[in-house]
Amino acid sequence: MDLCEASEELKQKYLFRVPYSKEFADYIWPGMVVNPEKILSLNDMQLGPDDVVIASYPKSGTTWASEVLSAIAHDGDTEMLSRIRMDERVLWLELDDKAWWIKFFYIWKNKIFSNSATNAVPKKRICFTHLPLELLPPSILEGKCKLLYVARNPKDQAVSFFHFHRMARFLGMQTHTSWNEFFPLFCSGFLYCGSWFEHVLAYWKFTQNNPQAKFICYEDMKRDLMAEMESLEQFVGVPLSMEQRVKVVKHCSFDSMKDNKMANRDGVMLFNEKISKFMRKGIVGDWKNYFTVAQSEAFDELYQEKMTGTGLHFEFE
Ligand code: A3P
Repeated sequence: MDLCEASEELKQKYLFRVPYSKEFADYIWPGMVVNPEKILSLNDMQLGPDDVVIASYPKSGTTWASEVLSAIAHDGDTEMLSRIRMDERVLWLELDDKAWWIKFFYIWKNKIFSNSATNAVPKKRICFTHLPLELLPPSILEGKCKLLYVARNPKDQAVSFFHFHRMARFLGMQTHTSWNEFFPLFCSGFLYCGSWFEHVLAYWKFTQNNPQAKFICYEDMKRDLMAEMESLEQFVGVPLSMEQRVKVVKHCSFDSMKDNKMANRDGVMLFNEKISKFMRKGIVGDWKNYFTVAQSEAFDELYQEKMTGTGLHFEFE
């Protein structure tokens, strides 16, 4: 059997493990946090010129981009960011309203209270989503607001998503699933959010020649966050001074975010940090510690098949 193909047994095991898994629109949803009803209700959501939506396949650097954009929206005021929890600054669009207990536990466990007395009104409202393009609310597709897509090379993405599947209680894998079992699920797209290729390529096409949309890569942010920030400032129309930019770059470094309770998602009830931290490694090239030579070759073949002719390229180290 092709190494990238998931057997029926593996697929059934995946469905069995994800608690309250729901199938909707040909995708698998972790019912503890995302419900089809909520996704459908987003169709009525009105977004406007002051909204910026970050879209991504999970583990692309969504939280990182969220902190950067949030800092831009607050005019580079990193002290302000340190007073307001990430989940209040950057809303997860499709999070089920009934999952209020996540927030409650998060606050309670970490004693992280936002200081709302500061009344910080950001210049832009930032939200994020992992929805595939075709499930986005019409107001985003019609270009009523800005859309930023964050992508990451799929080998590192797979490794990060593997760890996430183990630590996120709503995905239910814990330590029961090995890398060798996860690899074909990722390649065949039989998992939460579906195929990485389909997710990324649909957004890639959508963002081309679209002034309301932008496509960025994790690897570019790693190489030169300052330059990426400048282009993001232009994209959302909030320019910062060089001094503010330097401050934000420092605030958004992996080490700084790792220790920042307002941004690192420590203590979210949904995560078992004994298995893995949300802010895990934050590097490019970790896939080499997981992919066997055979897996890497099989994946390269799949990658060529899906990506050739799309004009989209990723850096793997
Ligand atoms: P790793 O698991 O490879 O460490 P998302 O926010 O989309 O879920 O992505 C999470 C991934 O982004 C994790 O990758 C996390 O460590 C990484 N990340 C988060 N903040 C980062 C930062 N400031 N710099 C580099 N990587 C970061």
